[in-house]
Amino acid sequence: MPLPRVLADLPVGPVLTELLAGVVELVPWDAPGPGLAGVLTYGHPTVDGPLLDRVPDARVVSNVGVGVDHVDLPAAAARGVLVGNTPGVLDGATADLAFALLLAAGRRIAEGDRYARGPDFLRYDPSHMLGREVYGSTLGIVGLGRIGEQVARRARGFDMTVLYHNRNPKPAAEAALGAHYVSLPDLLSASDYVVLTVPLTAGTRGLIGRKELARMKPTGVLVNAARGAVVDLDAVTEALATRRIYAAALDVTDPEPLPRDHPILKLDNLTVTPHLGSATEQTRRRMAEMAVANLLAGLRGDPLPNRVG
Ligand code: DGY
Repeated sequence: MPLPRVLADLPVGPVLTELLAGVVELVPWDAPGPGLAGVLTYGHPTVDGPLLDRVPDARVVSNVGVGVDHVDLPAAAARGVLVGNTPGVLDGATADLAFALLLAAGRRIAEGDRYARGPDFLRYDPSHMLGREVYGSTLGIVGLGRIGEQVARRARGFDMTVLYHNRNPKPAAEAALGAHYVSLPDLLSASDYVVLTVPLTAGTRGLIGRKELARMKPTGVLVNAARGAVVDLDAVTEALATRRIYAAALDVTDPEPLPRDHPILKLDNLTVTPHLGSATEQTRRRMAEMAVANLLAGLRGDPLPNRVG
């Protein structure tokens, strides 16, 4: 029996390769066509109507990750294609990374690492490279979903006051986490650390621009663990270069990766990581297993264990 053929943005890494060996045949992204039974998205390739029209027999798109902003969901629904993702298993890892970035930016850890390795560190100077305190400060979480809630839990261990903004208040989470609902403008002006954990949607694209950055404290730190397009990168570059805000830490950018000569990459008050939110061995394996379960269910014509929408 020939294996079902699945379009995928290869290479898909060792775990998926192992899990799918002898189960499906992966077909490179640049070779869509009839006879392909599904689509596996690994590194956020765009799945839109025209792509789906080129795989007319595909019944499922399985995304390795929770965010599906690169998939045109109405286009998939219109063609009867189910979309699966991997929610829940990556919240802790992503919150850990968001908190690591918060600490790194406030305490100048990446900058300190560069300095400690470089030629200028010849004498310890207690007045050098002073950062901003994390413990006891105010954290503003934009998007108190599963990942945002995990960030709030970590903040409690640092004796932080936790504010949050969402489309709607979440009284149960407030009670459990000691978080306080505020408007976005109030969150921006009151927080020492602003952490973005919203999905990218039409409503959150460009959510943090010049006007929003202008509301932040000059000592404020912006952390983006969501999607790059949630912030206006030119505005963040300007705010960092002019010291309008103290620092930013970005795990995600738009575009991703940034052009190697992008001006923001020259700034010392930027900490940047290459989309590492869920990048632990354990979490990435769980994501791969969930994505395979969704893919195989879709190929069999069964309901997806984790269907979007
Ligand atoms: C996610 O889960 O959305 C991460 O960004 C990895 O794709």
